[in-house]
Amino acid sequence: MRKKIVAGNWKMNKTLQEGIELAKEVNNKVKEADIKNVTVVIGTPFIHLAEINKIVDPNFIAVSAQNCATEASGAYTGEVSAAMVASTGSKYVILGHSERRSYYGENDAILVKKVERALENQLEVIFCVGEVLAEREANKHFEVVKSQLVNGLFSLPAEQFAHIVIAYEPVWAIGTGKTATSTQAEEMHNFIRKTVAEKYGQAVADNTSILYGGSCNAKNADELFSQPNVDGGLIGGASLKADDFMAIINARQNH
Ligand code: PGA
Repeated sequence: MRKKIVAGNWKMNKTLQEGIELAKEVNNKVKEADIKNVTVVIGTPFIHLAEINKIVDPNFIAVSAQNCATEASGAYTGEVSAAMVASTGSKYVILGHSERRSYYGENDAILVKKVERALENQLEVIFCVGEVLAEREANKHFEVVKSQLVNGLFSLPAEQFAHIVIAYEPVWAIGTGKTATSTQAEEMHNFIRKTVAEKYGQAVADNTSILYGGSCNAKNADELFSQPNVDGGLIGGASLKADDFMAIINARQNH
């Protein structure tokens, strides 16, 4: 059975002290609500990882980085390796986010290396895919997402692919307040699962969690999570307030 996951992506927000406060709040609320059948992940900036791993109860919350280096170690000033991320106790890393792809030039070849480093260090990868508005308007969204999957992930053997979570994030919906409709989300998630099944077989596809991201909030989460192929969410803005994030976790728990 695939996991239901609600993952927060804090992006470049929160000082260390603010992050610690938010993590404490989320941790308390998730424990209080006794959330058991949803994997709750918080994706923090690198510098928060070690401290926040000491705060959260690993039975309830997993911590994620938002990036890692292409190389294992060495003279790469300013980079943070997957081994360093894992050494903080973090279990996940978000890779291929559209902001990394578009602002930092992360292409398929770079992402393949990052995914390999992450998996070598036993991290679970939340791999983001998604089209920009012009691609959707040109009816190229399926083609774009398929190529991101094939070029970024499909060189992995099936046993490694088991450690991949896919996040479908239509770029036009990220931080814009414009959410994909649940029909648009379901249509793409179904396509992604079918594409995974063609490569790895139906059993692997059925075990792959596919998250929706892009202006997912307390109001629309319920409707999105009611779709059979939407296994959870990757949450940006709404993960920065404990109550909003908790409402989304509850929406997932209740479906
Ligand atoms: P958003 O971001 O929820 O603020 O739209 C989602 C994401 O980029 O992961």
